[in-house]
Amino acid sequence: MAYAPFDLSGKVALVTGGNRGIGLGMAEALAQAGAEVAIWGRDAKRNDEAVAQLSKYGKSRGYAVDVALEQSVDDAFAATLRDFGRVDTVIANAGIGAAAPSFSEMPTETYRKVLSVNLDGVFFTLRAACRHIVERAKNGDPGGSLVGLASLAAIEGQARGQHYAATKGAVVSMMKAIAVEHARYGVRANAVLPGWIATDMTEFAQQSPVFAEKVITRVPSRRWGKPEDFGGIAVYLASDASSYHSGDLFVIDGGYAIF
Ligand code: NAI
Repeated sequence: MAYAPFDLSGKVALVTGGNRGIGLGMAEALAQAGAEVAIWGRDAKRNDEAVAQLSKYGKSRGYAVDVALEQSVDDAFAATLRDFGRVDTVIANAGIGAAAPSFSEMPTETYRKVLSVNLDGVFFTLRAACRHIVERAKNGDPGGSLVGLASLAAIEGQARGQHYAATKGAVVSMMKAIAVEHARYGVRANAVLPGWIATDMTEFAQQSPVFAEKVITRVPSRRWGKPEDFGGIAVYLASDASSYHSGDLFVIDGGYAIF
């Protein structure tokens, strides 16, 4: 018999950037564990494809959202609530990378673009989530789990990625601050820090023999991470098994950071 707290039946999970990559890996595991799953992504066609995959396990819907836009997020959260009735877990995963030639040559517009998705997007998403969860708690139905996707860049130095690293450090700090303020409503808030994961975001590095030789050989697990490597942490954090686990950082990197 399966360990009962991991059963997500009756729970609703929202994953931003859930139509591909790490977000889809998390969404698929959540659906398999019994959750109803809403995904947000910019591309409606990709959303439809992911929802077709997730619907094998239960109710799933996709929403075309740009998380960098406040109104888009608030409208999508309201639509998600209308369709699902509640939201228990929100995984703020949508993010972009944008390498710059160097810090000195980093265009201001690249810096602002990365901040708008990776930081504003997480802020808008989790603020909408907290408004719902606090109201629900005040009506006698407390609880919820909030997850922010950060990166090893939050705790290590990322050359040519100061903009990206700054957003990920901010996500770690935001999750801790949310955790402290919302614990009274039965809410946990945690950050997940992926290492090198084979997704569209890292396509350039996956094509590089130099990268394979210099970086991937330093991963103790001796391989790229995969989206499905994030299924376990998603289910754990969405489940009652993590009800006393808040304000933490989960590094999922095949051991890269400690080698
Ligand atoms: P990906 O590029 O495969 O997928 C990104 C997802 O975010 C897509 O679903 C896309 O539609 C969505 N997205 C991007 N901008 C959006 C916007 N403005 N509004 C709504 N959705 C938007 O990326 P991947 O690798 O799956 O990354 C997921 C998260 O993990 C990101 O926050 C990323 O920074 C983080 N991460 C990824 C690592 C990696 O090695 N792939 C390493 C460390 C962190």
